[in-house]
Amino acid sequence: MRFAPREIILKDGRTCILRPTAPEDSEMMIHYMKDTAGETEYLLRYPDEVTYTVEAEREILGRILDDPSSVMMVAIVDGRVAGNCSISGIGSKRKILHRCSMAIALYREFWHLGIGTAMIACLAELAREIGYQQMDLEVVEENTQAQALYAKCGFIESGRRHRALRFDDGSFHDEILMYREL
Ligand SMILES: CC(C)(COP(=O)(O)OP(=O)(O)OC[C@H]1O[C@@H](n2cnc3c(N)ncnc32)[C@H](O)[C@@H]1OP(=O)(O)O)[C@@H](O)C(=O)NCCC(=O)NCCS
Repeated sequence: MRFAPREIILKDGRTCILRPTAPEDSEMMIHYMKDTAGETEYLLRYPDEVTYTVEAEREILGRILDDPSSVMMVAIVDGRVAGNCSISGIGSKRKILHRCSMAIALYREFWHLGIGTAMIACLAELAREIGYQQMDLEVVEENTQAQALYAKCGFIESGRRHRALRFDDGSFHDEILMYREL
């Protein structure tokens, strides 16, 4: 969906713009997905799994922008992508229409500046506007930094998916399930 861009001031005094991700961002977004996947183990994809072409990514971003039930947001600092977050419905059946799923990731150099907190506040507002009543997410058990952010933003732990992930080194990791009522 489209929404009006907003400006926030970061902990280091810089200005950050939160705006919808657009088809023109496709090349930048492919780099972002590859880079962030290499900076942390806590995202679902490995860098070599980012195989979108610029054209395919452009189409995906255009579709999301025109989808009234999805939000894809990018944070821009000093003209560069600092991070990205999104919400999307989890399915079209009436019994689950009240729920959306949330994802977020920032370049490491932009961690701890308040972008995550601001993005989630903005996502929650837009999710309410769409008509969702609940945001769901999964977070790797060891990702205590993200869990601290989510708890601060009102998310509550609701369960655990045992051995949800198997890393390339053969280790298994649980996912913690969290949700927030809107
Ligand atoms: C998780 C992530 C999105 C957090 O975003 P962020 O912009 O760094 O978060 P914020 O700056 O808004 O900080 C939120 C909270 O994180 C914690 N935090 C912030 N700085 C911290 C630090 N130096 N050390 C530990 N925790 C810290 C605090 O609880 C903070 O709340 P506070 O500002 O009231 O102290 C970001 O670290 C990230 O992109 N990580 C890699 C990808 C990832 O793990 N995504 C989530 C997958 S489920």
